[in-house]
Amino acid sequence: MKPLEMETKNIEAYFMNWDMMYPKPYDKETTSPFTKTRVILMNGTEFESNWFLHQFARNCNDQDLRREIARVRAQEQQQQKRISCLKPINENMLETTISYEQLAIELTAILAQNEKDINNRNALDFALLEDFDHLYRFSNLLKTDFDIDAKHLVGAYTEIMPARPTISHHRHPLDNVRYPMDSRTADAFSLLVGNIITAAEQQTMNFYMNMAQMYKNHIGRQLFAEIGMVEEEHVTQYESLKDPNCTWLEQWVMHEFTECYLYFSMMNDESDEYIREIWADHYEMECAHLKKAVEMLEKYEGKRAEDVLPSLAFPKLLKFGSNIDYVRKVLKTANYTSKLEEYVNVCDLDANDRFFEYNYFLNNPKSHTASHGVINRTIDKLGRDYRFQVDEHPLDCLRDRMIDNTTLGRTPSDNL
Ligand SMILES: [Fe+2]
Ligand SMILES: [Fe+2]
Ligand SMILES: [Fe+2]
Ligand SMILES: [Fe+2]
Repeated sequence: MKPLEMETKNIEAYFMNWDMMYPKPYDKETTSPFTKTRVILMNGTEFESNWFLHQFARNCNDQDLRREIARVRAQEQQQQKRISCLKPINENMLETTISYEQLAIELTAILAQNEKDINNRNALDFALLEDFDHLYRFSNLLKTDFDIDAKHLVGAYTEIMPARPTISHHRHPLDNVRYPMDSRTADAFSLLVGNIITAAEQQTMNFYMNMAQMYKNHIGRQLFAEIGMVEEEHVTQYESLKDPNCTWLEQWVMHEFTECYLYFSMMNDESDEYIREIWADHYEMECAHLKKAVEMLEKYEGKRAEDVLPSLAFPKLLKFGSNIDYVRKVLKTANYTSKLEEYVNVCDLDANDRFFEYNYFLNNPKSHTASHGVINRTIDKLGRDYRFQVDEHPLDCLRDRMIDNTTLGRTPSDNL
């Protein structure tokens, strides 16, 4: 499938009125968990498109081009409005959060298993375990505050159990920046990976930035703030993989191509008929955006789409599904942290490494760390933590449901 060959209307024909922008929400009881994750992914993709075009406009000195950017950007904004209200009124913010972390886990796992670029794959595997642990912490909050089993929300496609404990995720910011790709030599799929995962993690980061203060109790507000800081780390990592040497117009083409790829994947994967129509509608719009971006690239830089995109056709489409075995395999690296561009076993760090200094400064005393407190609170209330496992935990040191592990990936004591 080549999006540039798709028949489209004039871009002016794609504006929506209020009725189109306000959709019928999904039913939170009957809709597939993967429909919810697709909605979050595309909401985040539109957010990224909109904000990228705002940044572009602020760095552009051509009035005609700024007007073209404004027109497409307003359509990205309209698409975002339509998607975000697919979430029903009766889904509370913590239930939505469970879907955010489920998306992070399943999307990361799918991308990692299809990614050939080792640097990208390592980044995905590394953050995968952290979002996996976030799901466990938020699920415990959901159980104690609302008596809701997150297992039903994730549809048993995703296990809920500890991984690298969140308390161990807090690294010095200097250790979250990785090596970038070179878009002249990178694979088409790898470039998409960089764009897709950055937008998805950024959406989660922004969601927690805006939601932390809205939660109904202190421990919940603190948990959103703490995990929000980890999402800042994830965005730092993933955006550093993207090629920093592209021009703004080249990046615009890549953004529109990414939107085309995602909507085409979503419409092929979607189980909800009504929502599939929306993905199909937006796919056509994105093909028109892509043509516009390519037209601007030719006009202002004399380059063709082929100069920017390694392939004009889509690579293998994105398809959601359960990745339980894969996550269990990656769990064996739970005691890793990162140092500059590399991933290292905490047992191999010098005792005076800045990881320990920064992490121990933040978590002092550790009883004030919300991700630890939220599990202790569940153990106090229910006698043990909340989990959903299909089998025994693969790591010995994370099997005890009455003690929250705060040393794995943080001190040299739990060497796997
Ligand atoms: Fe869009
Ligand atoms: Fe997360
Ligand atoms: Fe994340
Ligand atoms: Fe677009």
